[in-house]
Amino acid sequence: MKVTVVGAGAVGASCAEYIAIKDFAAEVVLLDIKEGYAEGKAMDLMQTASLNGFDTKITGSTNDYSKTANSDIAVITSGIPRKPGMTREELIGINAGIVKTVATGILEHSPNATIIVVSNPMDTMTYLVHKTTGLPKNKIIGMGGALDSARFKYRLAEALGAPISDVDGMVIGGHSDTGMVPLIAHATRNSLKVSEFLSEEKMQWVVEETKVGGATLTKLLGTSAWYAPGAAVSGLVQAIACDQKKMFPCSTLLEGEYDLDDICIGVPVILGKNGIEKIVEIELTDAEKAKMQESAAGVKKTNGLLDV
Ligand code: LAC
Repeated sequence: MKVTVVGAGAVGASCAEYIAIKDFAAEVVLLDIKEGYAEGKAMDLMQTASLNGFDTKITGSTNDYSKTANSDIAVITSGIPRKPGMTREELIGINAGIVKTVATGILEHSPNATIIVVSNPMDTMTYLVHKTTGLPKNKIIGMGGALDSARFKYRLAEALGAPISDVDGMVIGGHSDTGMVPLIAHATRNSLKVSEFLSEEKMQWVVEETKVGGATLTKLLGTSAWYAPGAAVSGLVQAIACDQKKMFPCSTLLEGEYDLDDICIGVPVILGKNGIEKIVEIELTDAEKAKMQESAAGVKKTNGLLDV
């Protein structure tokens, strides 16, 4: 199993690190346009191998896509991250060109790769990869929901005063401050609905804090987050590499599911060796359905800014 991670910035390096620590891939190639940067990150990470106990080989490359040849999975993290006060949508002008170039570079050397898109605005960048590569839809996956769900569980645990392992929950919809749809009515603590334990007001707090989870961190850090995004990507990569058939909310091309068409947006999917093996259609409440449609309208508006 060979995995390429394009972009050796904080998110890309965290992805590589978590993939390596989980020790399921033979090889991870980090690629970046900045001279020597990916090589440096790869060497630093390799020097953690004996300490962290992994055998995954990590190498770095300065923009030489031939080094990524025959990758099974490629993760695109390249592009500029947002600064405090910016929305993910404002990054589209610069990141669309970068994502298109990177996807082309990857597929030139790994025509069978499954692509995981992380660059923002993520749902629109995932749609762009569809429009520009002609890859089958199961091989293009946008990472947002896995991260947003992790942030949802963090806030649920906080509100409940419970350990994270006690809680479960999922966020669907667009990966944006206004587009996320945290499924609070479905969230549970040990299989019991969280509404058993939390007031309406507290549940609303969880939902709102989840939606601005990335923005809160951007304000604190001065740039966007990397540990949770990296860990979320590593979970998707592992599910595909190890054919786990695990369910994650991911951005995928919808063709009628959830009453949506010609859009990439977060919905529950099953991930296995063939990438997205199934789109799972769950029964949403009327309020959730309305929020999903509103979220989709926002994503479509951003898609309209693309030159495809
Ligand atoms: C975030 C970025 C990765 O939400 O979109 O932190």
